[in-house]
Amino acid sequence: ISLKPYNTFGIDVNAKFFVSVSSIDDLKYVLTLQDFPNKLILGGGSNILLTKDFDGLVVHINLKGITIISETSQHVIVRANAGENWHEFVLWCLENNFGGIENLSLIPGNVGTAPIQNIGAYGVELKDAFVSCDSMCIQSQAMKTFTKLDCNFGYRNSIFKTEAKGKYVITSVDFKLTKQNHKLNTNYGAITSELQNMGVKSPTIKDVSKVVIAIRESKLPNPKEIGNSGSFFKNPVISKELYVTLQENFRDIPSYPVSENDVKIPAGWLIEKAGFKGKRFNDYGVHKNQALVLVNYGNAKGEDILRLSKLIQKTIKRLFSITIEAEVNIL
Ligand code: EPU
Repeated sequence: ISLKPYNTFGIDVNAKFFVSVSSIDDLKYVLTLQDFPNKLILGGGSNILLTKDFDGLVVHINLKGITIISETSQHVIVRANAGENWHEFVLWCLENNFGGIENLSLIPGNVGTAPIQNIGAYGVELKDAFVSCDSMCIQSQAMKTFTKLDCNFGYRNSIFKTEAKGKYVITSVDFKLTKQNHKLNTNYGAITSELQNMGVKSPTIKDVSKVVIAIRESKLPNPKEIGNSGSFFKNPVISKELYVTLQENFRDIPSYPVSENDVKIPAGWLIEKAGFKGKRFNDYGVHKNQALVLVNYGNAKGEDILRLSKLIQKTIKRLFSITIEAEVNIL
């Protein structure tokens, strides 16, 4: 079967076998199938670049449901199953006036894959509202809960990208959200100015979501129209020493503080400076409004996009002595 509808890059590769699981029992059963040793767990397919056909069983996680686990007058603990679409979950929270993840509006993908890369945008990361997640061990089918501490969250990173990589299927995620006195994160430059433009003085969580959606829609391509996986690369962290040297040649190089010795550089700036922004090669290229996003205009092959990403990495290394790492998983 073609995996084109199951990855936001819209890459047309085939899987030999495919199954969509909608219950924990189904998942358990599918994971025990000995005839299919080669399995690929697929969530929303929003952080993956498929470069070849998959000669095994794709297990699509379709566990649905959102429930309130407990609440006080101030907070609520909400459990969302892994197959819930992330943005629809954000909208559900807004409808219920639950605050905490409004800055993460419109991020593609599903709830169950959000912790893997600790999705983040506009000053908020998933970890800020995360309590724990339940998972199934692929090998033993035993259930295991990971607390926030267990997850070892970092910038676009977690235990699910390191020690626990490929070992567990996340089945649900618990979030702690506010019911009142919402703590808004509106310090991110683009949000502050957009709220001002809209003349909003005391914003609600719905206002913040609206603004985030407007910013994302103006910069980031809609995967339903142009295939993409959001930021293809992570923003690199470099030493202050290198930063100062680079400033001699590139006076306008932007940076964010990270620690006493390091700064983070927006990879989008590096890629733009290297001349790739808006470049199109046949059916693939670099997005015109955000250089961090590689796009598929129609029938690009995963290999084409991978080759372009390597060319970009090589050029950035040559021009700035900076290594940029892919953020998406390449398969
Ligand atoms: N910039 C450029 N040219 C570009 C893009 C960016 O010069 O083409 C520079 C500008 O200086 C701009 C700065 O980069 O001010 C920051 O740009 P932006 O606010 O778009 O954020 P980013 O660092 O490029 C990160 C995340 C995004 C997230 C935004 C907003 C990563 C890898 N990406 O991008 O996440 O939406 O911040 O918080 O950290 C994603 O992970 O898929 C994603 C879209």
